[in-house]
Amino acid sequence: MKKIDKIPGAVYFGNDSWKQLQQIIDKQDASSVAILVDTNTKNHCLPVFNEHIKLAKPAFIIEISAGEEHKNIASCLEVWGELSQNGFDRASLIINLGGGVVTDLGGFIACTYMRGITSINIPTSLLAMVDAAVGGKNGVDLGALKNQIGIIKDPLAVIIAPEFLKTMPQNQLTSGFAEMLKHGLIYSNDYWQRLQSFNTTNISEAENLIWESIEIKNEIVTEDQQETGRRKTLNFGHTLGHAIESYCLETNHMHSLLHGEAIAIGMILALHISVNQEGFPEDTYNSASKRLLKVCGKVQFSSDDITEIIKLLKHDKKNISGKVLFVLLKDIAQPLINKRVEDHLILKSFDAYKKL
Ligand code: GLY
Repeated sequence: MKKIDKIPGAVYFGNDSWKQLQQIIDKQDASSVAILVDTNTKNHCLPVFNEHIKLAKPAFIIEISAGEEHKNIASCLEVWGELSQNGFDRASLIINLGGGVVTDLGGFIACTYMRGITSINIPTSLLAMVDAAVGGKNGVDLGALKNQIGIIKDPLAVIIAPEFLKTMPQNQLTSGFAEMLKHGLIYSNDYWQRLQSFNTTNISEAENLIWESIEIKNEIVTEDQQETGRRKTLNFGHTLGHAIESYCLETNHMHSLLHGEAIAIGMILALHISVNQEGFPEDTYNSASKRLLKVCGKVQFSSDDITEIIKLLKHDKKNISGKVLFVLLKDIAQPLINKRVEDHLILKSFDAYKKL
């Protein structure tokens, strides 16, 4: 088992981390335990949890519908209601068993129910393992706007069992892989290069690369949990990526994108802007954008779509005083935060994406 020791926010990684979870739960001795699942993780992941963990009394299972469109305050009202009606008190424990929607929403529930109860994250998707479940960002969407309501607070622990990845659909794996590529681009050229051979069929090599991503994320969020500086680099690709994700979710003629797919497009666009504005090397843009295109596939955006996406940018959480702020790169592993970008460079980046 690999681990990051900190309290709260410890991370345990490996299929043997279940033993650690059993010890944490026994020590916690909670008055009641709820397990938050979605429709998919109830069927596929809860049986795995039950195989490994013995609870003093049966857990109360709370199920939300799967999908980003359910990451909202209406789902929270239902979960808060279920906890309250079933006598959950301040000494209770909530275990979030699922992907990013479950860990984000469950973390928010835990931070707010009775002003805060203990939670543990068990991320079951690659995206949640390398990003969502680590770093204490919890929250829900406000209509189409992603993660507008939330709080930053670490769970007691994060338990990462890569065995969940075995049954994960390929598109979900590539969506998580996009965040790993982001870690390479913002943090280490060496890691970026090694990621080019990432292949989930070679489990031990893949597990090492996944763990490295978790360590990169942990290093950054430990230095700047409240996102006043360095943590902003983790938003690389997210300014346009979130706007694209929201737009595709809300607009009938577009197919919804997985988070990582939208972020991969956002990274291609941000790299192009970086070439024009910050002197990012053009040959690296050419190779990196081809790699990222494999993750996101080609999405067709009309000029009207692009106009609407640019309008959505004004709601981005990273904006200050109405100014849209980007993370750009001077080179791989040389991130620049709080960068203003003129609309014509955004339009140019969409033109270049169309030609890839
Ligand atoms: N997903 C970016 C962060 O946790 O800061």
